[in-house]
Amino acid sequence: MNKQKIAIILAIESSCDDSAASIISADQKTGRIRVLSNIISSQIAIHKKYGGVVPEIAAREHVLNLLPVINEALIKAKVLPKNLTAIAITKGPGLITSLIAGAETARALAFAWKKPLIEVNHIEGHIYANFINPTAPIKFPAVILTVSGGHTILLVMEKSGKIKIIGETRDDAAGEAYDKAAKMMGLGYPGGSIVSGLAAEYGKKTTNLKLPRPMLNSPDFDFSFSGLKTALLYELKKDPNWKNRIPEYCSDYQQAIIDVLIHKTLKAALKFKAKTTMLTGGVSANNELRAQMAEAVKTRTKNINFVIPAKDYTTDNAAMIATAAFYKLRKNKLISFKRLRVNASLELK
Ligand code: KG4
Ligand code: ZN
Repeated sequence: MNKQKIAIILAIESSCDDSAASIISADQKTGRIRVLSNIISSQIAIHKKYGGVVPEIAAREHVLNLLPVINEALIKAKVLPKNLTAIAITKGPGLITSLIAGAETARALAFAWKKPLIEVNHIEGHIYANFINPTAPIKFPAVILTVSGGHTILLVMEKSGKIKIIGETRDDAAGEAYDKAAKMMGLGYPGGSIVSGLAAEYGKKTTNLKLPRPMLNSPDFDFSFSGLKTALLYELKKDPNWKNRIPEYCSDYQQAIIDVLIHKTLKAALKFKAKTTMLTGGVSANNELRAQMAEAVKTRTKNINFVIPAKDYTTDNAAMIATAAFYKLRKNKLISFKRLRVNASLELK
């Protein structure tokens, strides 16, 4: 194990369209994490007009944004490069050109500052967002639902770092389902916060819409969201008045996603005798999902802790990458700048 009592980690995250840098300090003995800075430069305004992320533009923006974001993270944290224990970097999965922009920045800084690197899987980063000031004690086994723009994965963590995937989406990710619905209704990008805002506007009123809850009763822990998107398309085509009912459509569409996510997560928590259930990823920023999952764990299970990241750590950020890196540092998983390689389709192991 690295000998310093307090580890100070700079993390860089650039797997999609956010250029992010964060500094954390972590107590090697107690595992307590303090986020000293968490800086994000969002490219949403640029990609919005194309209705989604344009990889070449994202990479070019990362090249412009990353160094200023890293500088700001150091200044805000009042940390000098010489005091860093290591530099963490997202290895994948993600957009290859975006990953390269981050990795080459990390490589250059590691060389210039003579610091070791720690490679982090982006999904693992999302999972470890829950280890930053956890909302309840994390006991194992834990069942973890990761819901982002690119992934919908249900997994069991038997102990810290030991992960087993038990279910995945067979087509679209939950965040993608939000984004595609928003695009279909001409609401803009990214769809998650827009659709959930309109659903909130509709409120708790009942609706006559009956969008499907795909794979709700399938015997496995898998998901499917592309059929839901198609069902929405057919409903909109049938309804000449749909433009006046958008909040209602958003409400039922969102509830269809939430129903399936909660049902499968609770089923897994019971089957694997989980002591903790966690939610992570961009879609876990969703207020309804957060509230309904918390309520379901409380009322439909016994003695299972529910842990969810603070909103700042749900969508892509570098504090989560730094936190995952800290657990790798404890296992001495440090590499030299020469060995750093990105992998756009990196698997979770
Ligand atoms: O984790 P993330 O920032 O990036 C990926 O790793 O994909 O997740 C982005 C996704 C997008 O699909 C976005 O629409 C969704 O998270 N999202 C939300 C909300 N905020 C972001 N989905 C539902 N409700 C939200 N409030
Ligand atoms: Zn992400």
